[in-house]
Amino acid sequence: MQRLLVTGGAGFIGSNFVHYALDNTDYHVTVLDKLTYAGNRASLEGLPADRFAFVQGDIADPATVEPLVAEADAVVHYAAESHNDNSLHDPRPFLDTNIIGTYTLIEAARKQGKRFHHISTDEVYGDLELDDPERFTEQTPYNPSSPYSSTKAGSDLLVRAWVRSFGLQATISNCSNNYGPYQHVEKFIPRQITNVIDGVRPKLYGKGENVRDWIHANDHSSAVLTILEKGAIGETYLIGADGEKNNKDVVELILTEMGQAADAYDHVVDRAGHDLRYAIDSTKLRTELGWKPEYSDFEAGLAATIQWYRENEAWWRPQKAATEAKYKELGQ
Ligand code: NAD
Ligand code: TYD
Repeated sequence: MQRLLVTGGAGFIGSNFVHYALDNTDYHVTVLDKLTYAGNRASLEGLPADRFAFVQGDIADPATVEPLVAEADAVVHYAAESHNDNSLHDPRPFLDTNIIGTYTLIEAARKQGKRFHHISTDEVYGDLELDDPERFTEQTPYNPSSPYSSTKAGSDLLVRAWVRSFGLQATISNCSNNYGPYQHVEKFIPRQITNVIDGVRPKLYGKGENVRDWIHANDHSSAVLTILEKGAIGETYLIGADGEKNNKDVVELILTEMGQAADAYDHVVDRAGHDLRYAIDSTKLRTELGWKPEYSDFEAGLAATIQWYRENEAWWRPQKAATEAKYKELGQ
């Protein structure tokens, strides 16, 4: 049995991965999570006590990290400050967690000769024109736009340097935008679903023509397990499920699915430096490691996600008012 240390396992994608890994493997999982505003212990309820442990702590603290890495066979590193809008108004925590936190973890993994998988984002590549026939590949040059994506790019480059200079046994994955249960209400899809539940009109930044390449969180999890088990050390794999949609279309789908008029939304102030389009070519992962996504029907996945937020109001309600108060100050 493999023992995994999963950082950021109380966040959106990390908690989905923990559920997925415990359901689909016989691994033992220990989560290390600081429980920032984005972490929620309730996302990890009901897991088997003999295969799951939770530790609250900071990935940037070597005294916390080193003994946990020592107990693990592999580290899967999800913990991050993850929201672009926050990074534009208070970048410092992004440097502390995304850069220093990643440095602290790879130092521990290097010293102890442990397998390391680094979770990153397609946002490190910058953005594409709407009509660009090319999509991001592993060869696309890094060109991040925001404090969030630049700190993720920096963390990727640290991992690559540790592989080359110190022989760190690491792989990296860069995934497109995820959707599914347990996503914080600050993010686009849950914000609009919970607004509609509250009788508030969805808020679209700018014209709403920005395109994101949506993938279900479970498909991200299956890809990460595949890379952990079959990936080649030192390699980067892009994860995507051919899910390009513009924001206006997503809002209209949410409104229609929730029984509202498709145009019952408002345009608000655009995000500074707003990336226009992300799109992933995941050929390498599919052909070299044989992975493929299972959630190919975005509308069905979105309907299930809406249903999850309807049924789990106790999970998201405590964060909603403070999140909206922050957006209101920014005119968003
Ligand atoms: P999230 O904000 O929902 O969760 C982040 C988690 O990390 C939280 O539980 C938080 O408490 C924890 N954390 C933050 N700082 C910490 C620290 N210093 N020490 C320990 N724990 C800390 O984020 P998410 O959307 O689940 O993203 C997870 C990872 O996936 C990130 O690395 C992100 O860059 C990457 N990613 C996200 C997306 C997306 O669509 N959300 C897409 C591609 C890649
Ligand atoms: P987000 O979920 O913040 O993810 P990312 O910035 O990592 O892509 O936003 C997804 C898209 O939705 C992005 O183009 C910004 C846009 N957006 C809105 O139009 N309205 C909103 O209320 C939010 C939060 C985001």
